[in-house]
Amino acid sequence: MTAPRRRMTPASGLAAWLAAMACAAPALAQTGTSGPASEARTTVEAQSARMQQARNQAASCAVCHGPDGRAPADSPVPGLAGRAQADLVEMMLDYKNGKRPGTVMPQIAKGYSDTEIIAIASWFADQK
Ligand code: HEC
Repeated sequence: MTAPRRRMTPASGLAAWLAAMACAAPALAQTGTSGPASEARTTVEAQSARMQQARNQAASCAVCHGPDGRAPADSPVPGLAGRAQADLVEMMLDYKNGKRPGTVMPQIAKGYSDTEIIAIASWFADQK
């Protein structure tokens, strides 16, 4: 069980994520003169930067929830891979605002902004 590039400061993760989005905007604007093919490529690159950021943050969940959120069959911690994004977001927000009881998750959820939770949930939902 490894957690590569564990991110200790969720706040700096959000800053980098927003910076990636801000960088993508001018790149998208420039594609007007270079045709639909490069526009598609740039959109894919921007999307992949966002997913990479969420992936880095999701790596810190792997310690308990398994690699890529795939918990081993005998794990007491539920897996996260392939679950509906809306369900994951709802559970995380409920942990964060104290509506959902837990041992470690209420504290962990408080370490992420709502925007980060949405991005992380999206990444796990994509792990089929
Ligand atoms: C220290 C171990 C640990 C880490 C790290 C951790 N979790 Fe958890 N997670 C748990 C445990 C244990 C539970 C069961 C509830 C509880 O006891 O808090 C849980 C439950 C959950 C649940 C509810 C699942 C269900 O079906 O009830 C979600 C969603 C979740 N975690 C998401 C995350 C996300 C996203 C991260 C990373 C940002 C994360 N967890 C990091 C241990 C962890």
